[in-house]
Amino acid sequence: MTRNLVKIRYNGIKYQVRAGATVLNALEEVGVSFIHGTSCRQGICGSCALIYRINEESELLGLLGCQHFVVDGMEIMSTPHIPSKERNFDPHDQNPIELLLQTYPEINNCNDCNACNTICPLEIDVNNVIKGFAKWELNEAIDMSSKCVACGLCSLRCPVNIMPENIIMQARGVFNIAIAQSMVPIPNKAKKELARETMELDRICLMSKESLTLQANSLRREILEGFIGYEKMDSEKDFQESD
Ligand code: SF4
Ligand code: SF4
Ligand code: FES
Repeated sequence: MTRNLVKIRYNGIKYQVRAGATVLNALEEVGVSFIHGTSCRQGICGSCALIYRINEESELLGLLGCQHFVVDGMEIMSTPHIPSKERNFDPHDQNPIELLLQTYPEINNCNDCNACNTICPLEIDVNNVIKGFAKWELNEAIDMSSKCVACGLCSLRCPVNIMPENIIMQARGVFNIAIAQSMVPIPNKAKKELARETMELDRICLMSKESLTLQANSLRREILEGFIGYEKMDSEKDFQESD
C-alpha cells in the first residue's frame, strides 16, 4: 500500500489521514462521522466549524472542515453546538440601527482583546466589525463581515459575551430591506444573466444522481488540483507511514 499520510489528532485520538484532503473528508475516510442538519460542503453554512492548534503552539485557531486542508501535527477539537440565539428585533423599525444597538448593548463592552479575530476561520476583522456597529457605521461593518458564515466561533471566545454572528446576521436583514426599498429596475444585461443562471439551475435539477456525483467529483478534483501546495496523490510512491 502506498499513500501520503499526515498525523493529526481529533478529540484527542491519533489518526493518520490522507495528505491533501479537507479536514472533513480526511476524518470521514478514517471512520469519523459528522451529524449536521444541513451541510453545504461549500464554505457557506458554517456547520463544520472546528477548533484546532498545531503541535504545541499556543494559539487556538478556527477552521471550516469542508474548506481547510489537513496539516501534519494538527490537533482538532469538535464544536458540536454553540448556544447562540438571535434576540427579538424588528428590522422594519423606524430606526433599525438604534434598535439593533439597544438589542445588543454588550457591543459597547468590546475590550479589543482580538480573540474573535484570531479564531475566525474566514479571517474577518471581527473586532473592527463590532466597533463599526458600535459607531453606527452599518455599511462598513456589513462590508467587512460579508464573508461571515455565522459559525459562532467568535462568540465562543469573546470574554464579554458579544455574539458577533447574531449581530451581523440581523444587521444584514436591515441592510437588505434598505436595498430592497431603494431598488431600481434590473438592467437588461442583468436580466439576461439571471435567465442564463435559471436555465443552468433547471439543467442541474434534471440531472440524474450519477451525473451529479460525476460532476461534483470532477469539480472537487479541479479545486484540489488548483490548491497551492497540494501535491497530487501518487499511489506508486512516497509512502511515509509512521505511528
Ligand atoms: S461567526 Fe464569527 S468566527 Fe464565524 S465566520 Fe462569522 S465572524 Fe468569523
Ligand atoms: S472577542 Fe469580544 S471583546 Fe474581544 S475583540 Fe472580539 S468582540 Fe471585542
Ligand atoms: S459544510 Fe457548510 S461550511 Fe462546511
